[in-house]
Order: sequence, then C-alpha cells, then structure tokens
Amino acid sequence: MRRKLAAGNWKMNGLSSSLTEIEALVKAHPDPDIDILICPPATLLSAAVVTAADHTLAIGGQDCHAHEDGAHTGDISAPMLKDAGASYVIVGHSERRTDHGETDDDVRGKARAAMAAGLTAVICIGETLEEREAANTLEIIAGQLAGSLPDIVTAVNMVIAYEPVWAIGTGKVPTLEQIGEVHDFIRTKLVARYGDGVGNSTRILYGGSVKPGNAAEIFAVSNVDGALVGGASLKAADFSPIIAALEAS
Ligand code: 13P
Repeated sequence: MRRKLAAGNWKMNGLSSSLTEIEALVKAHPDPDIDILICPPATLLSAAVVTAADHTLAIGGQDCHAHEDGAHTGDISAPMLKDAGASYVIVGHSERRTDHGETDDDVRGKARAAMAAGLTAVICIGETLEEREAANTLEIIAGQLAGSLPDIVTAVNMVIAYEPVWAIGTGKVPTLEQIGEVHDFIRTKLVARYGDGVGNSTRILYGGSVKPGNAAEIFAVSNVDGALVGGASLKAADFSPIIAALEAS
C-alpha cells in the first residue's frame, strides 16, 4: 500500500506571518491518515520545522544543490536542508528547469544528493503545451523519467510529481483520462526500471491547478497517490479541504 501524500509548494511566497497557516493545518489535522508536507521558502524552513515540531506534518525544501558544500553562492545543499529539519526536497520543478535551465542530468544529480543526505526527493516531470499538442506527452515523460531519476532508489526516498507545465498556475487541468494515462504510464516505467517492489510502492503525485473543488475527482484517478499543490497550499483554508479529500479517497 502506498501512503498518500498531500504536498504544498509555497514557491517564492511567504513571510514569517505565513507560519500561522502551518499552525492552522496542524490544528485542523491532528492525526492524519496521510502524509502532509509543506515546502516553504528557505527563509522560513527552520521556523516551519519548529512550528510543526509536535506533528507529523513534514517540512521540505524547494530545491537543493548537487554538491554537499563549496563555493556556490546563494545555493543550498541537501545536508543543509536535512540539518535545518527538512525531510523532503522538491527537485526538477518546471520553474527551476525554465528559470535556471536545469536539465534532466542536473535534476538527477540533485535527487542523488538529496537521497545521500537522507531526504526524500520529490522529482518533478511534465510536458509543455506544445509537447502535449504535438502528441508527444508520453515520449517526453519517458525521457524525463529516464534522465532525471537516479538508478539506485528506494520506495521511501523518491516521489514522482507529474506536473503538466501548462496546468501550473493556469487553472487549466488535464482531463481525468489524461491524468490517468500519464500516471499509469509512469507506474509501468517505474516497475520496468526498479522492479515490482519499488516500482509499485513509489508514490506518484499530480500537480497543476489542484483546488478544493477538483481534488476529490483527481484523487479518484488510478495511480494518483496525492498532489503537489502550489497556489492552493498557501492558505490553510484552501489546503485543508484538499488534505481532507485525499484522506477520504
Ligand atoms: P499550482 O497549484 O499553483 O498550479 O502549482 C502547481 C505546482 O507547480 C506545484 O509545484
């Protein structure tokens, strides 16, 4: 059985006043049947860990460097995230791939570093609108899986997030059939590469305009083990019903 995961990616949003949202989530879900993760900006990470200290709600980073330390001004390494109390880190988000030119090789290096530091890597993949319209989605997904995932993984230290680039922050969501097709495809690829054990136990999240109003139907799709939520994770009032929908699914 795969334990479901509701993950919030705050992106470049949040000041110390936003920690009250984590407080509210902890209060609203004192004993959740699923895993809950918030990835705040790095400036809030340590304080978020303290805020969630007595709860199972996990805190994660939004990116990490592939090296443990060194002369990389502005970057944060996986051991630093671990040291600050993070247990997860997102790698390969499409915004990093676009804004910072990250390649599949870069993402694989970051995922390896995350795993070596004892973090769970949430590895993001997804097609652009042009790729979808050219009927290349599965080919793109296969290439990103082959290139961005390390060879040696466990079912615990890796989560896949399927985030169609055109669905992120746009309010556009693929049809349930389209989500199911890609998630089933990812599952098949994971089993082929890592075997039944890891392949069937690795969680696959959907991300892209998940809201309280569409969460339940998305969570009913096969091989959707949770969500990576951007905008609707910023306020507990929005994220809480998404968590509840996942628990009920
Ligand atoms: P939105 O939920 O705002 O579309 O963002 C999704 C996302 O990119 C999460 O990583």
